[in-house]
Amino acid sequence: MDPGRVYQVWNPGRLIFGPGALGEISKEFTTRDKPLIVTDEGVVRAGILDKVTDLFARAEVRYDIFNRVVADTPIETVEEAASFYRERGCASIIGLGGGSSIDTAKAVAVRVSGDGTLREYGSGRPIPDCLPPIYAVPTTAGTGSEVSAVAVVSDHEGKMKVGIKSPLLVPKVALLDPLLLSTIPFRTAAETGADALSHAIEAYLSINSNVITDGMALSAMRMITSNLEKFAANPEETEAAGRMLLGSCLAGLSFANAGLGLVHGLAHSVGAYYHVSHGLSCALYLCAVMEFNVPACPEKFVSMAEALGVDVRGLSSEKASSQAVDAVRGLFSRLAIPKTFSEMGIEFRLDPKMVDDTYTAPVAKGNPRQAQPEQIAALFLSVQGTVSG
Ligand SMILES: [Fe+2]
Repeated sequence: MDPGRVYQVWNPGRLIFGPGALGEISKEFTTRDKPLIVTDEGVVRAGILDKVTDLFARAEVRYDIFNRVVADTPIETVEEAASFYRERGCASIIGLGGGSSIDTAKAVAVRVSGDGTLREYGSGRPIPDCLPPIYAVPTTAGTGSEVSAVAVVSDHEGKMKVGIKSPLLVPKVALLDPLLLSTIPFRTAAETGADALSHAIEAYLSINSNVITDGMALSAMRMITSNLEKFAANPEETEAAGRMLLGSCLAGLSFANAGLGLVHGLAHSVGAYYHVSHGLSCALYLCAVMEFNVPACPEKFVSMAEALGVDVRGLSSEKASSQAVDAVRGLFSRLAIPKTFSEMGIEFRLDPKMVDDTYTAPVAKGNPRQAQPEQIAALFLSVQGTVSG
């Protein structure tokens, strides 16, 4: 951090944290309110939506439900949810689920408040300052969207992600309840955890980091690396689930202020082209990008290595850096996260547009080392795996 630089730190909305925190949700609404609950079928099947609607029924809070969110929500789904919101006369929005549900809730809030398209708002058109209140209830420990000023949706036609950024998108209240994570599948826990770890590492290395975001990012790294395996193997264990939820939230607070880097630039492009889950897309590139970034900030890698569980005593910054990368590689390997496209049965072909999109991606602007197009191409191809023919 440059002590001579002026920087700002945005505070989030209100956080309500702890086992049973969901019980507080009905206190946020009166009988005159009518929130739209934006969620997905997995949350419905896990019985989590019923918990919310039971609480609302007891408190006589009216609500409507949109449960058709899918991973990497297409713009068209947001439009459908926004029409439903208007038809039903809703007055606030609850994102209940993983990052896709919370981001969809934010994007719906934007669409019901202004007449611009999501592509326009993603290209810098100002967000209307009359958004309905947004509430976030995460059911995964990864996204950080519950405290961030960003919503990412998919433009399938343009084969790209649309990122909308505004402090107005920070949810008014985020309810973080580890009991809601108790049925998360192993793979989802592992991949969303990899996303959270990527947020912490990218925010920490970002050129826009500061002493406050650094503290949050290092705490997040410690919590995630020491709890992710326990959590993925046994999500019913409340302590590990709670620490993961807190770790991903801290990582979210950190990147909401410091920004992200090249991992997310590459991951968004791969997500748009190959529909690989966001967490897995980040996991694929995290180690390669860490190695790429070492020359830009070797001293930061020493403190990062320590937070990732490396005993750095007596290590040179070069050794500590390589052991930091090894620590992440080892964690992902123990979680059986695929390392290449061929391991996933995907034949990866690099479209030059993927390189262009990543080179110009606003999300990658915080990366501590500027990557040239040929270096971006090499990073994409580094996880191609075995190529047939
Ligand atoms: Fe992410």
